[in-house]
Amino acid sequence: MQAGTGGDLSGKCDFVRFCATIPRAIILPVSAMNNTRTLHPPVCNGALDLETFGDFVRKRRSIRRYQPVPVPRAVVEALLEAAIWAPSAHNRQPWRFCVVIEQPAKEELSRRMGDAWRQDMSADGADPALIEQRVATSRARLTGAPVLVIPCVSLEDMDVYPDGERNRAEWLMAVQSVALASQNLLLAAHAAGLGACWICAPLFVPSLVVETLDLPAHWQPQAIITLGYPAEQRERERTPVAQRVVWR
Ligand SMILES: Cc1cc2nc3c(=O)[nH]c(=O)nc-3n(C[C@H](O)[C@H](O)[C@H](O)COP(=O)(O)O)c2cc1C
Repeated sequence: MQAGTGGDLSGKCDFVRFCATIPRAIILPVSAMNNTRTLHPPVCNGALDLETFGDFVRKRRSIRRYQPVPVPRAVVEALLEAAIWAPSAHNRQPWRFCVVIEQPAKEELSRRMGDAWRQDMSADGADPALIEQRVATSRARLTGAPVLVIPCVSLEDMDVYPDGERNRAEWLMAVQSVALASQNLLLAAHAAGLGACWICAPLFVPSLVVETLDLPAHWQPQAIITLGYPAEQRERERTPVAQRVVWR
């Protein structure tokens, strides 16, 4: 489709149709461009049009099964580079990443996390067969992923306040910043033709993850992002945006 023409949008989602109505660039006089605080709406940088971007983000899916093919280190480094260009609170960049590519490390991590999860589920009174099935699935996902990336929060450069309420807000800003970096990583993986999935399990056993991977004690694991070339296709829907938004 040509920019700004509307083109053939049949079969595309509302978002794409919406994007087609948006001008691709806003031409402002140089005087306005020099005064960045007066820019509204922002100038399109021209690198990626909104329709292409919308289509791209819509096609990202959480992928949990991977081909047994290694991911080149340079590709993983490119994903991490994309991650660190996320916005962060005060630009303190509280993200830290542990990349696990060695199979014994994946085995050890998944075994120990599985043991902890088994204990929790047993204490909850879950059916033993179901427990074993869940643990085995989780283990297969972790050990079958060529790369695990563990995004962590570090508060070492964040502000410290005398009261708990502001410290909690500061911690939450750090968590949000790491989540944004992680989303950059997920999108970069999608751009690289990789599948990825965010797995929340480390939130339940952060100390175990730190100890198993010999991470600095102040790193707070937030997730495991599994990565690899996809061995499955997934479909997902979304509740229409109008049901999630209020305008005032
Ligand atoms: C905070 C968070 C935690 C998640 N935890 C898990 C998880 O533990 N296991 C898993 O298989 N997927 C997990 N996911 C992936 C979601 O299931 C997935 O994003 C959701 O079903 C939508 O699918 P999509 O990513 O393909 O659009 C998590 C996603 C987020 C954002």
